[in-house]
Amino acid sequence: MSVPFVDLKAQYLSIKDEIDEAISTVLNSTQFIGGQIVKDFELAFANYVSVNHCISCANGTDSIELALQALGIGEGDEVIIPALTWISTAEAVNNVGAEPIFVDILADECTINPHLIEEKITDKTKAIIPVHLYGLPARMPEILEIAKKHDLRIIEDCAQAHGASIEGKKVGTFGDAASFSFYPGKNLGAYGDAGAVVTNDDGLAENVRRLSNHGQLSKHDHQIIGRNSRMDTMHAAVLSVKLRHIESWTEKRIAHAKRYTEFLTSVQTPVVPVGHRHVYHLYVIQSDKREELMNKLKKEGIGCAIHYPTALPFVEAYSYKNHGQNNFPVAERVTSRILSLPMYAEMGEEFIRMTGDSIN
Ligand SMILES: Cc1ncc(COP(=O)(O)O)c(C=O)c1O
Repeated sequence: MSVPFVDLKAQYLSIKDEIDEAISTVLNSTQFIGGQIVKDFELAFANYVSVNHCISCANGTDSIELALQALGIGEGDEVIIPALTWISTAEAVNNVGAEPIFVDILADECTINPHLIEEKITDKTKAIIPVHLYGLPARMPEILEIAKKHDLRIIEDCAQAHGASIEGKKVGTFGDAASFSFYPGKNLGAYGDAGAVVTNDDGLAENVRRLSNHGQLSKHDHQIIGRNSRMDTMHAAVLSVKLRHIESWTEKRIAHAKRYTEFLTSVQTPVVPVGHRHVYHLYVIQSDKREELMNKLKKEGIGCAIHYPTALPFVEAYSYKNHGQNNFPVAERVTSRILSLPMYAEMGEEFIRMTGDSIN
């Protein structure tokens, strides 16, 4: 018996009737971009996050770019981001003409180390993008304090953390704006690329909406130079259905994580600070024997993956920054130890037991 890393088919089958009906409604309406179905999803997602505005867009990477642009960040500016994240966080900064400045991470939590942020702040620094990596909220109270002290904007990268929270306050509500990805494998995933920016700031929301739709709020009223980054109606229809289930799916992920943590005796399991709700987009263990573990799991047909094998300062694309071997010691060590185990709501207890037994 093999254990898949994720199983999107199992999720689809569990809500097939609802999804098929929602897609059929879109097909029959022949409204394929925007429209009431997209507006309904934006409203429902804003309510879910507890923010005033949700502006849907084409993908999570665009949502970071749009938030940066709407905040007026661009050429000559610096933006602080963690050394360990998916490359989109950094790419988005480069793509608006600004420079990503990497900061090392916390060894156990794998999110940005707030104590190392201030030493990277210069007079060019305009913003911090904390990433709630794997579904665990970054240390927002400390980060907010630094941002306030240095008058910096905060864009939360919530791509992996739908529904995560600190003391009951959801991620996406701490910063000036937040970006979400609805990539199919995410905790809330569309059937293709999709994303959203959320914010409580009316002006910022209007800016993002203009930027994402050719600079216009109404047809042919191009007040600024924008772009085409809109959500397809089909994705909004799928996401609205899935949003009804996300809380029960998240509770299942949390229960699976608890079982894993009970089982696993020989590796480091995820560390969750008191008051943080980890939503386990990924269940990531750490071990000095990562390569051996990975080979064993693969041989036994148990899915696993590394998120991510190389800290961003050391990927080829960022070699222009000439970072030295000792500049990000924690991220470097963590990337040699992390391993993501199978995790999805529909996963059976026997899969957790098999994976746990194999690792032990
Ligand atoms: C941390 C993080 N940021 C940004 C993104 C970008 O999202 P998308 O793939 O929808 O562009 C992702 C998606 O993988 C992510 O994991």
